[in-house]
Amino acid sequence: MDLYEYQARDLFGAHGVPVLPGRVVTTSEQARAAAAELGGRVVVKAQVKTGGRGKAGGVQLADTPQETQRRAAAILGMDIKGHTVHSVLVTPACDIAQEYYLSFVLDRTRRAFLAMASVQGGMEIEEVAATAPEALAKVPVDPVVGVDARKAAEIVHTAGFPAEVAEAVADAALRLWDVFVAEDATLVEVNPLIRDTQGAIIALDGKVTLDDNAGFRHPDHAELADSVGQDPLEAMAKARNLNYVKLDGQVGIIGNGAGLVMSTLDVVAYAGRAHGGMKPANFLDIGGGANAQVMADGLDIIFGDPDVRSVFVNVFGGITACDQVATGIVQALDLLGRDTSRGEAAGKPLVVRLDGNNVAEGRRILAQAAHPLITMVDTMDAAADKAAELAALTCAKGA
Ligand SMILES: Nc1ncnc2c1ncn2[C@@H]1O[C@H](COP(=O)(O)OP(=O)(O)OP(=O)(O)O)[C@@H](O)[C@H]1O
Ligand SMILES: [Mg+2]
Repeated sequence: MDLYEYQARDLFGAHGVPVLPGRVVTTSEQARAAAAELGGRVVVKAQVKTGGRGKAGGVQLADTPQETQRRAAAILGMDIKGHTVHSVLVTPACDIAQEYYLSFVLDRTRRAFLAMASVQGGMEIEEVAATAPEALAKVPVDPVVGVDARKAAEIVHTAGFPAEVAEAVADAALRLWDVFVAEDATLVEVNPLIRDTQGAIIALDGKVTLDDNAGFRHPDHAELADSVGQDPLEAMAKARNLNYVKLDGQVGIIGNGAGLVMSTLDVVAYAGRAHGGMKPANFLDIGGGANAQVMADGLDIIFGDPDVRSVFVNVFGGITACDQVATGIVQALDLLGRDTSRGEAAGKPLVVRLDGNNVAEGRRILAQAAHPLITMVDTMDAAADKAAELAALTCAKGA
């Protein structure tokens, strides 16, 4: 999970990293009030989960509360790399003497962590990294040892920070490492970390990515999750513990096992070319226990997607044998069919391909149920073709 700048700032503050005060607001009127409260010059900053906000005009100085209101009005609603600005941070303007860069990332290839630091921070850091890579120090961090005073000094020294800020930057590095470890982050980045004209070191911007796999250790992180902008179907799937990703096609996909679902997406995309460009509508892995309830939950989410015209259920029976899956599908359709509030929503054609453990019994159960929505096809390629064909057909009818 990526955090907004203001959320990163709050985490930094909680771990003793020097940050600025400021308020997050959603209207220009509130921005004016926030500026009046802070007093003096302020900066209005778009809160979107992407970099390069400054270059896009999403970071603007304002001298007065009136000007703050105008700046906020211009920034709110702005589109920055496909992200709409719903809120802005109003924060005091700093007198910047120098902009630095400091980050910690998980380095998957080296199975370790990596510290990066530069005395040439700021909005051109990507440019610096590309054209003068020696100006961006990279210091590996042993995951067992972590960043101690010695490692912090090494980072500061390798990046060439001037003596007068070395101690303060090392201290900030230690505290940011504390954020990284204590919050289970995979990225903590400060750009710029500044020295102001009084000589103080302050984190002016923050990017933090939290490791969702460690979410169970951080019940308090739940409130950092974004409700605006999240896909409602993905939210519903998450609440039911299903691995679901919405895509932009018309053929709903359900499978067991991430590998099988990935290849199902491929065969459907391929088969769809012969049927007017039908494509997979989602990724949905229902995992090993494809019982009736899990199947019903999965179908419910897919039926709820208005773009879905047909559904391809592709299951390879393993520990959960095909007969259990077949029973699950029939019961799931019963469960959903009984819910009259859904109206026609439960009426999308289903192509089912079963193989693996106890396949004969599974196919027998489906044949016997003779459900009007189900078409059984024995091979994956033929089933993908059928699902794409049915999707194209209902698209033509619906249009
Ligand atoms: N509170 C502040 N006071 C003065 N200048 C600021 C302040 N906040 C930001 N700036 C200036 O605006 C620039 C851009 O701000 P910031 O780094 O927060 O946004 P960004 O463009 O998203 O950064 P990045 O390119 O790292 O994604 C900073 O490099 C700094 O020069
Ligand atoms: Mg920045």
